[in-house]
Amino acid sequence: MMTVIRDISIDLPSKIHFGSGSMDKMIAEVGSLGLKKVLVVTIKPLFGRLQTLINKLEQAGTGVLLNTSIDQEPTFLDMDQLIQAYANKGVDGVIGVGGGSVLDVAKLAAVQLASDQKLEEIVGKDLIRGRNIKLICVPTTSGTGSEASPNAILIDPVDHQKKGIISPFLMPDLVCVDPSLTSSVPPAITAATGLDALTHCLEAYTNKFAHPFIDTYALQGVKLIAANLRPAVEKGDDAFARAQVALGSLFGGFCLGPVNTAGVHALAYPLGTTFHVAHGLSNALLLPHVMAFNIPAAPARYRDIALALGCEKSTDDVKTAFAGVEKIKQLIEVCKLPTRLRDLAIPADSIPQMAEDAMKITRLLVNNPREITIQDAISIYQEAF
Ligand SMILES: [Fe+2]
Repeated sequence: MMTVIRDISIDLPSKIHFGSGSMDKMIAEVGSLGLKKVLVVTIKPLFGRLQTLINKLEQAGTGVLLNTSIDQEPTFLDMDQLIQAYANKGVDGVIGVGGGSVLDVAKLAAVQLASDQKLEEIVGKDLIRGRNIKLICVPTTSGTGSEASPNAILIDPVDHQKKGIISPFLMPDLVCVDPSLTSSVPPAITAATGLDALTHCLEAYTNKFAHPFIDTYALQGVKLIAANLRPAVEKGDDAFARAQVALGSLFGGFCLGPVNTAGVHALAYPLGTTFHVAHGLSNALLLPHVMAFNIPAAPARYRDIALALGCEKSTDDVKTAFAGVEKIKQLIEVCKLPTRLRDLAIPADSIPQMAEDAMKITRLLVNNPREITIQDAISIYQEAF
């Protein structure tokens, strides 16, 4: 029987500059877009590295406003405050320079600074009516893939849940990936964000809605990150390793819109919202255990993942696939990340509540190759404990 490939629609950034000259190209691009005033959303520690960019933009006649209010995972309140502060300032471009939180906020700012829709109205999928402000994203960590995804995540202070805003209007006009911007990222953050990116690729490839178009990026992303994350962690200025991981992270971003993540991310969310564990680390803590849980439902897919991770082919798919789980555990260990929930002082009696919260992330759970019941979620957290 002939297999029919399911329909897919793929939004990607309109243009991507990758490499050490990306920032200069971006400055030229801002000029040719005729932007009069840009809002740069970033974090204070990046000030030094951004001074040249800001000077050059101003010399070229573009006004620059700077916002550094986002120093942790953003809430609806953070976002509303930022919008109120800049809504009437004549901003015609937003440039996000930072990690996933900063980029998510920049993406939403580009939509909301000139919009008649309230923030609450756009929560969910495809509810944004348009975007009138240009959007440029510059990732400075190799991880979230936010620069290449149509998603933005905000924390709802009412129920402490992460809410997703998903729209093609959140896709940047321009993405500049300069891997050297990641060279000063500390080892622990390089490791955690790198594992987040690897998880994006892995969960897309093993996804119930996997697609051959995205498989190509997903598998290549797993290979690039698995082979280069350790040197990038151990020697931050290893330009080759940084570039390979940055590319893998970008590929992980490509996976997010058309296919997206699954059980690992769903179960990781409560660690972030309840215990403020960083997103990448939350995923790393659960990744091997969700992989082991999923293998019986998709052995051939997990075999491919194991091979991409650098494992040898074994006598059957399940064996090869489980070698992949061991490989991931080793990678997490050599990257010196904590490996157990108890290492982060998460109490064992919080597991039932975390499992209940994870069950609410249905938009991701539906993607998982094996159904996760609340009992399964409890078992997986116990395995990870
Ligand atoms: Fe992620």
